[in-house]
Amino acid sequence: MNGKNLLQIAQGDKDWIVGIRRELHQYPELKYQEVKTSQLVRKTLRDLSIEPSPPMAVTGLVATIGNGNGPCIGLRADMDALPIQEETGLDFQSKTPGIMHACGHDCHTAMLLGAAKILKSMESQIQGTIKLIFQPAEEGGAGGSRMVQEGALENPKVDRVFGIHVWPDLPTGKIGGKSGPFLAAVSSIRLVVRGGKGGHAAFPHKTHDPILAMSHIVCALQSIVSRECNPLNASVVSITAIHGGDAFNVISDEVVAKGTIRSMTTQGLAELRTSIQRIAMNVAMGFQCTAELQTIDGDPDYPATVNEKTSWEAASMAATELVSSSNVCELEPVLGGEDFAFYLEKTKGCFVALGTKNESQGAVHFVHTSKFKVDEDALPIGTALHVAFALRSLDELR
Ligand code: NI
Repeated sequence: MNGKNLLQIAQGDKDWIVGIRRELHQYPELKYQEVKTSQLVRKTLRDLSIEPSPPMAVTGLVATIGNGNGPCIGLRADMDALPIQEETGLDFQSKTPGIMHACGHDCHTAMLLGAAKILKSMESQIQGTIKLIFQPAEEGGAGGSRMVQEGALENPKVDRVFGIHVWPDLPTGKIGGKSGPFLAAVSSIRLVVRGGKGGHAAFPHKTHDPILAMSHIVCALQSIVSRECNPLNASVVSITAIHGGDAFNVISDEVVAKGTIRSMTTQGLAELRTSIQRIAMNVAMGFQCTAELQTIDGDPDYPATVNEKTSWEAASMAATELVSSSNVCELEPVLGGEDFAFYLEKTKGCFVALGTKNESQGAVHFVHTSKFKVDEDALPIGTALHVAFALRSLDELR
């Protein structure tokens, strides 16, 4: 089957794919709570005569299509939503107050089910195995890591894995990506500064003021990227919240700051953490305070998403066959994070951006915002891309 035929078949399934997407969109669920979502995925797979695995990583699952032998290609979708109140005004807008599919994971799940439908219809011709991976908790819960730990890439062993993300910067009909580092390694940080000696603000000499210490620390942390990091390796240190004290006239005991740190390499992220620890401790000491950089339960670090070269070449050739070379673009890396990185630490593969921007529909807002919209014309393209990537990779690896 050539790319144009495949795209036509996927376009013939557009209403089916969009129907699933809209159903998911109305009932978004937060990380590790994707109960209804995974039930819908299971039911849809069974309706297609595909038997899903028992639950993995709480609400995740895998399923295979093909002859059960190698090579094996993994196709991954994430299923969770975000704690955002939707303001799109769509007639299939979220029915759950305060929760919204604002990162397009409803689209990712629906597109992968669309690929399952097409691949199942041609199963007798598939020489090898395709493993569908539906994971929970991409948004901060490292569901991908848990899926890997629970064996999502084993039995059969996945030789190449592929993921798609809707991309609101890229017009519908375009597909983008790159070889090498594509998305950042990310860590949420929590920094606690303690004076251990609060007191009356009229008697500052009898206290140790953690607010003053934290103020100097925040300024000093901004020297890390400019003075310690290689300017050619992009990094970010952002302090995004500070809480401490609550009276006009009391010097508090403790101040807590939160933030995010990012680097295009996993090693670079570790170095940022070490620098923060050192600067915070030493600056705090100068003000007779202490500083502690804490880890945050339930919010593990994400490694950098690094696309493997031959996988990106296969993906961009598969994309070229679908939408022609003028619509396949090399993208710059971005400092967003993505837990697809956990799969790429264990096997070859690549992560690809699917254009969903369409000004005439108001599909222009960024992910993680209350007005985020997707041009649904992109969904069959994403489905066809999954199928094309799997078939091309099986051909290459056989
Ligand atoms: Ni996302």
